[in-house]
Amino acid sequence: MPEPALSLESLLSDLEARARERIEAASTREELEAVRIEALGRKGTLAQVSKQLGSLPAEERARIGRLLNAVKQDLEQRLAARLAEFERRELEARLDAEWLDLTRPAPGPRPGSLHPITQLQYEIEDLFTSLGFTVLDGPEVETEYHNFDALNIPPDHPARDVQDTFWLVDGHLLRTHTSPVQVRGMEKFRPPLRMIAPGRVFRNEEVDASHEHTFYQVEGMMIDREVSVAHLIYFMKVLVNHIFRRETEVRLRPGYFPFVEPGFELDLACLVCNGRGCPVCKHTGWVEMLGCGLVHPNVLRMSGIDPEEWMGWAFGLGLTRLAMMRYGLDDIRWFQSGDLRFLRQF
Ligand code: DAH
Repeated sequence: MPEPALSLESLLSDLEARARERIEAASTREELEAVRIEALGRKGTLAQVSKQLGSLPAEERARIGRLLNAVKQDLEQRLAARLAEFERRELEARLDAEWLDLTRPAPGPRPGSLHPITQLQYEIEDLFTSLGFTVLDGPEVETEYHNFDALNIPPDHPARDVQDTFWLVDGHLLRTHTSPVQVRGMEKFRPPLRMIAPGRVFRNEEVDASHEHTFYQVEGMMIDREVSVAHLIYFMKVLVNHIFRRETEVRLRPGYFPFVEPGFELDLACLVCNGRGCPVCKHTGWVEMLGCGLVHPNVLRMSGIDPEEWMGWAFGLGLTRLAMMRYGLDDIRWFQSGDLRFLRQF
C-alpha cells in the first residue's frame, strides 16, 4: 500500500510549506501563536497526520515518522526564531521611545527677576538715600484723615468722589495716592525731614491702555528752615536725569493740589512717541510725570509743625507712568498682567 504513504508525504510537505509561509508573514505574536496551535497543537494538523501512522506498513511508518519529526522540529525552530525576532524588535522600540541621555547636562535653574517697577523703585530709593532721604512705608488701607483731611483736601473736593476712591465698608479707604505717608512721616519724625515713600495706590478707574485701578507712586518731601522752588526744581531734574541717564526734556506748569502752594505739574516729553503723539501721552506729546510744590502751611500745621518756623517742598511721582516711558511701553496693563513673556524681558 504505497498510496497513503505518498499522499501523507505530500500532505506533510504542503503543510510545512504553508506553515512556513504563515510564520514568515506573521506580524504579531498572536498570529504566530495561531500558526503554532494549528500546526503543532494537540489537535493540529501534524497530530492528525501522526494518528494515521498506525495504519502504515512498518517501513513506511518509520520513514513518514522521521519526516513528521523533522517537519515538527523545523517548524518549532522557525516559530522560536520568529518569536525572538519580535521580542528583539519590541525591545528596540521601547529603548528608542524611552531613551535618556544621562551624559547630557541638566537644564540650569531659570532665575527670576525683579519686576520692572520694582527695579525702578530701587533705583529711585538709591538716589534719594544717597541724598540723605529716608525711605518710608505706609499702609495701603488708609484713614480718610490721612488720605484727605490732613492733606488739606476739603470734604467736598472731587478727589473724594466715589468714582475715584475705593471706600471700605468700615469707613477706611484704599489710599488714592502716596501723599498720606507725608502726613505719617511728619507725625512720626520732627523736622528737619527728608523722606520718600514708594508704594501702591488705588483708584476706581475704567481700565484702558493708560489707566489702571492699581499703580505705583513715589512720594517725596523735604522740610527744613529754608527751602525754595529752586531746590525743588533742582531735585526733580536730578531725579529725571538719573532715571533716564541723560538730560531729559521736561516742562513745569502751574498745577493745583490742595496740599501745596504754589503747586506745579512736571511733564516729560513723551519718550514712547518722542513727542509726536500716541495713546500714552493722549496725543499731546507730553506725559504728566509728577505733581509738586511748596507744602501748604495748613498741612504743616495739622501735623504739628509750625509753618512760621519750617517750610517744605513735596512731590508725588507716577512710578508706573515712568516705567512705561523708560521701557517704551504703550499699554499700562502689562505690569499687572503676570504674563511671563513680558516679565522675562527685564
Ligand atoms: N498726590 C498727588 C496725586 O496723586 C501727587 C502730588 C502732587 C503729590 C503734588 C505731592 C505734590 O506731594 O506736592 O496726584
